[in-house]
Amino acid sequence: MTPLSGRGPSPHPPRHGLFLSFEGGDSAGKSTQIALLREHLISQRHVAEELVLTTREPGGTELGSRIRDLVLHGGHVDPRAEALLYAADRAHHVATVVAPHLDRGGLVLADRYIDSSVAYQGAGRELDAAQVRTLSLWATGGLMPHRTILLDLPPEALDERRSIDSLDRLERAGREFHRAVRRQFLQLAEDDPERFVVIDASGSRKDVHAAVLAAIATELEAFDPSPESSPQSPAAPE
Ligand code: TYD
Repeated sequence: MTPLSGRGPSPHPPRHGLFLSFEGGDSAGKSTQIALLREHLISQRHVAEELVLTTREPGGTELGSRIRDLVLHGGHVDPRAEALLYAADRAHHVATVVAPHLDRGGLVLADRYIDSSVAYQGAGRELDAAQVRTLSLWATGGLMPHRTILLDLPPEALDERRSIDSLDRLERAGREFHRAVRRQFLQLAEDDPERFVVIDASGSRKDVHAAVLAAIATELEAFDPSPESSPQSPAAPE
């Protein structure tokens, strides 16, 4: 019998494609910046549209959107159950959407990934951040982004960007919680400066977009979207 070992999979970037994640507090402008980047890649860099996958967590799959409803719009969820639900969403998302796209040599722009779990479940939700990270690493087989863009904004600035009516359960959790989340994100960035780029999200859309492009210039340069040079042949169209 194989001896039991407590070690989970070690974090690693994908072997193929380009994997970028966007993190930050609620309403920091991630989806706007992802849309601007996608547009730039397709129209300015001539990356084929089907190679650019924009996706999000929770809810990047059909199963994930059900999980999303349960955790964000349901009643109280026990912190451990909540962490497991986010991890389950991520496991399914990586296995069925993210990893296959990267294997085809594609580019993935993810609106939230592992760091959101560490920041939200670890910082504010009574759980140990290291355990939350281990859980997510197990769920994803250790797959990490090449680069993570942290759009940083003080929680006070967030209040101006959203209306009270549109707040979901977590967003209502209060400013103190959001401060803790922000601290945890910044700590993660400090601990892993190779992967993280922190961008001040209080600037204009255009300025933030320019900062995003500068942050990933090397990765974009190295990413060759031509099908012939992609490490694996693209999958047949479905
Ligand atoms: P969402 O509605 O996608 O919008 P935004 O990213 O603009 O805030 O936010 C999803 C919520 O889920 C957000 O409050 C953060 C939370 N979340 C976690 O707590 N853990 C996680 O692992 C993920 C992916 C999200």
